[in-house]
Amino acid sequence: MQITSFEDYKKQYQKSVEQPELFWSEIAQHFTWHKPWEKVVEWDFKIPAVKWFIKAALNITENCIDRHLKDNANKTAFIFEPNNPNEDAQKITYAQLSEQVNKLANALKKMGIKKNDKVCIYLPMIPDAIYAMLACARIGAIHTVVFGGFSAKSLTDRINDCECKLVITSDGSYRGSKTIPMKDTVDEALQYCKSVAHVLVTKRTGQSINMLNSRDIYWDTIVPQQSNTCAPEYVDSEHPLFILYTSGSTGKPKGVVHTTGGYMVYTAYTFLNVFQFKHSNIFWCTADIGWVTGHSYVVYAPLLNAATSVVFEGTPAYPNPSRFWQIIDKHNVSHFYTAPTAIRSLMSSGLDYITPYKLNSIQVLGSVGEPINEEAWHWYNKHVGKERCPIVDTWWQTETGGIMISPIAAITPTKPGYATLPLPGIQPILVDEKGNELYGSNIEGNLCIKFPWPGMIRTTYGDHERCRTTYFATYANLYFTGDGCKRDKDNYYRITGRVDDVINVSGHRIGTAELESAINTHPSIVESAVVAFPHDIKGQGIYAYCVVLESNRQKYEQITKEILKTITKEIGPIAKPDKIQLVTNLPKTRSGKIMRRILRKIAEGEISNLGDTSTLLDPLIVNEIIAGRK
Ligand code: WT7
Repeated sequence: MQITSFEDYKKQYQKSVEQPELFWSEIAQHFTWHKPWEKVVEWDFKIPAVKWFIKAALNITENCIDRHLKDNANKTAFIFEPNNPNEDAQKITYAQLSEQVNKLANALKKMGIKKNDKVCIYLPMIPDAIYAMLACARIGAIHTVVFGGFSAKSLTDRINDCECKLVITSDGSYRGSKTIPMKDTVDEALQYCKSVAHVLVTKRTGQSINMLNSRDIYWDTIVPQQSNTCAPEYVDSEHPLFILYTSGSTGKPKGVVHTTGGYMVYTAYTFLNVFQFKHSNIFWCTADIGWVTGHSYVVYAPLLNAATSVVFEGTPAYPNPSRFWQIIDKHNVSHFYTAPTAIRSLMSSGLDYITPYKLNSIQVLGSVGEPINEEAWHWYNKHVGKERCPIVDTWWQTETGGIMISPIAAITPTKPGYATLPLPGIQPILVDEKGNELYGSNIEGNLCIKFPWPGMIRTTYGDHERCRTTYFATYANLYFTGDGCKRDKDNYYRITGRVDDVINVSGHRIGTAELESAINTHPSIVESAVVAFPHDIKGQGIYAYCVVLESNRQKYEQITKEILKTITKEIGPIAKPDKIQLVTNLPKTRSGKIMRRILRKIAEGEISNLGDTSTLLDPLIVNEIIAGRK
């Protein structure tokens, strides 16, 4: 399964294109299947309908846990590093993981959770969160993890969209120097959710919370007394494993559905190859399990490879910006996978925080979530990798399940800012606006994928048509990524960023339409338009132009404060705009369409080059907006 050289990569790649069924079936044979597949793949991007390992049956937790118990029962699966550096780290072996997951799976059954039921997980980065995901998978329930930074309103929307029966949460969570009330947020969210019968509450901070008698159950009153064996529920290869909500170009987040067999094979394969993982490595992916990176490279892929990995509860700058480097030295981390935004923010704290650390255990560095700028790439290479570690710039998406375009560590020659080459099985193409394929090198276009891969999105929950229109209808017979991309003279790929109305803030996707509808709930706001602008740390910042009622124009301070509060309530603090400008109107065409191109240029500070504004309904508004630029 593991690629051994650049020549081997090319050979494997060619095989995956010429004989995809043979290629993937050979990889899939490395896993434990309860029943083998009858056919490797069936697909039709028009519908879309994609199936992998057809009619096979399996349980992913058997592959993540049980099959390692023979040789690796006492190997550490997770090293839990708490938020507070003075609290002891905790090692969880595969045997202990098995016990915890089985007990919790039995507890879920006790609470009435069955195959196909949806379970919402709203937890901090603690081992219980991982047990929760795996316990769902153990019994064929479908987990939907909601990032702890989302508001009660966002939580309500997600729980209702997929009708969760159970919510698993904690009393509170630690985040840097703050304590965050998780259970209170769940209580608020559940006022508007009919489907939830129970809330399972684990204790993390010990803060006081309200427990609703028949609904809420403390973890320690039901889980520890369960049996530590729970027979795995074998599910069809295409049985949904999880739903993960992500923003798009419309106002409502969509529930990306991933299924079991293909996702398992794909995440495990990409982990093993991209990172060139070896049995003794200590892997650390800093992502929260609320995002797909956490699902794939904190939980599933490392476990599928019997790896040891670090689970970190805290944040990069608490108690100071040495925290990451201190953890790397403390646990001898060999593979470190983080986001460019974290690198830039630590870079800006100065070298004094990093030079005292040896970092000599590091072998491979990874980057994910957004384009990595050259300055950050060089800093990462020099100060973290000490110029001896390959950097894998991994391009992928919530919808792709796993890494798609990336160097293979120490095998693919790297180039700063380039995700380089597609992994075996991935057939990227660039197209122009009309969908014509752009051939050759030194070209730029929209990035599409023309052949299915096992980890790809199957549907958007409850609305298959939305899946079709978002990803498969822009260009016939292609999966459209929403990203712009260049292919250079070496046929290397460089992702240039989203071409749709999605902003990438610190590696997190935020739809402008979602932001605008949140802002527009403020009673003084008539209308709004949100665009991105380049931000030194976050990659992209959020710039909001808000049309405010005439009577309120003078109250800038008060209204902006209220807008920030509104967004925190409607979406969560991660979506707060960096700049808010109150305006009397927006630049619109005669047909009423907002000219975002102009707003983007103004936000970027490119005011000398606004293009033709004569077709605007009110060309003068542009001058007013420029004059009031933030
Ligand atoms: C979008 C997907 C992949 C998990 C984290 C984000 C951008 C992601 C890279 C990269 C340039 C990247 C793309 C993509 N992106 N990785 N290495 N270089 N851009 O998942 O929230 O689904 O966002 O993140 O624009 O479409 P996501």
